[in-house]
Amino acid sequence: MGRNIHSGMGRRSNETMRLTVTTFISVVIGFFLGVSFPTMPITKMNLPSTLLPSIDLGYIEDKYSGLSSQAFLHIWNSLRRNKGISFHEPEDAKIWVPTNPRGAERLPPDIVTPESDLYLRRLYGKPSEDLIIKPRYLVTFTVGYEQRDNIDKAVKKFSENFSILLFHYDGRTSEWNEFEWSNRAIHVSVLKQTKWWYAKRFLHPDILAPYDYIFIWDEDLGLEDFDAERYISLVRKHGLEISQPGLSADSGLTWQMTRKRDDTEVHKDAEERDGWCSDPHLPPCAAFVEIMAPVFSRNAWRCVWHMIQNDLVHGWGLDFALRRCVEPAHEKIGVVDAQWVVHQTVPSLGNQGKAENGKAAWEGVRERCNNEWATFQTRMTLADQVYIKENGIHPINSTSS
Ligand SMILES: *[C@@H]1O[C@H](CO)[C@@H](O)[C@H](O)[C@H]1NC(C)=O
Ligand SMILES: *[C@@H]1O[C@H](CO)[C@@H](O)[C@H](O)[C@H]1NC(C)=O
Repeated sequence: MGRNIHSGMGRRSNETMRLTVTTFISVVIGFFLGVSFPTMPITKMNLPSTLLPSIDLGYIEDKYSGLSSQAFLHIWNSLRRNKGISFHEPEDAKIWVPTNPRGAERLPPDIVTPESDLYLRRLYGKPSEDLIIKPRYLVTFTVGYEQRDNIDKAVKKFSENFSILLFHYDGRTSEWNEFEWSNRAIHVSVLKQTKWWYAKRFLHPDILAPYDYIFIWDEDLGLEDFDAERYISLVRKHGLEISQPGLSADSGLTWQMTRKRDDTEVHKDAEERDGWCSDPHLPPCAAFVEIMAPVFSRNAWRCVWHMIQNDLVHGWGLDFALRRCVEPAHEKIGVVDAQWVVHQTVPSLGNQGKAENGKAAWEGVRERCNNEWATFQTRMTLADQVYIKENGIHPINSTSS
């Protein structure tokens, strides 16, 4: 839209004018598209009449075919003629609000909208009536079309209280329309990227602000025995800020902590092999879930998002560092046994690598995973050291992992 308006206006307007006009057009389009404006309380507008000639009416006509320039002028005129609330900006428009979000200081605070959501809206009707329910939870799956049957089964385990977001790493998105739920899902397609790459780019905490819990899941999970609403009620009950469902015994299991137990609703610690845990409150014996099926509270995600590195796409090592985001971690991180999943271990991303130097594609991917883990750990250690040095404090002895 910006590009079209820009070219339609030509070079004669300066930047400020362009912004004003863009805003103005947006307002008017807003009236066109949704608000039943005869009931609107705005009745007098002191808009500079010099604005009008620079609006490219042809553009509006193209974009919203059926709405003629004539109709546009009609609405604009009626907005101008009406009397009532006066609509004026401070004389010199000298607004500077330091407490606004960075970059938005020139705006009056009441118009600043710093957070968003992933709610789908309609192109018509009243905005206030767009949403029948506002989902309070978000589930994302990073998927390839080959896994569609598994994802179809999985998505059906999430009620209408969930926003559904699929990240497609194989470029195939329209094929998913065969599933009824696909219409209400959000599809993000970027070739050959990883879950954490997508998460860093598309799951900014300010965008996910309305969601109490955020599921960031792999595509190879079996959810036959899983109920998402019940999972959330257990997470709430046990005060888990970061959690994952237990993994059934037939899963590809790496750690004792994430193995499902039969006698509890939730567990928060585990016994590992001798010498694996320097401290029973630390990973992998506690304060630990894996990166395949994590669930974050809103606050925990706000922290974790900031820890994700832009270049470390596999997220290895992140599981050991999640505890940095909640306190006390060994109480607020746990595994839900009563709602569990099967980890089917489909090596999907390995196939997305590239064979080179005599190594198979999956070998290159695995090598990068390991290297990223080491890099992440090094960065964390250095960051701690810099902080400690600058603040003149002693490291807490027990968290030196
Ligand atoms: C969705 O959330 C509402 C409010 O928490 C709840 O009453 C309802 O049962 C939930 N829907 C399902 C299918 O669980
Ligand atoms: C860390 O350990 C050393 C030696 O055991 C001890 O002297 C020091 O007080 C400890 N520091 C903290 C913050 O616990």
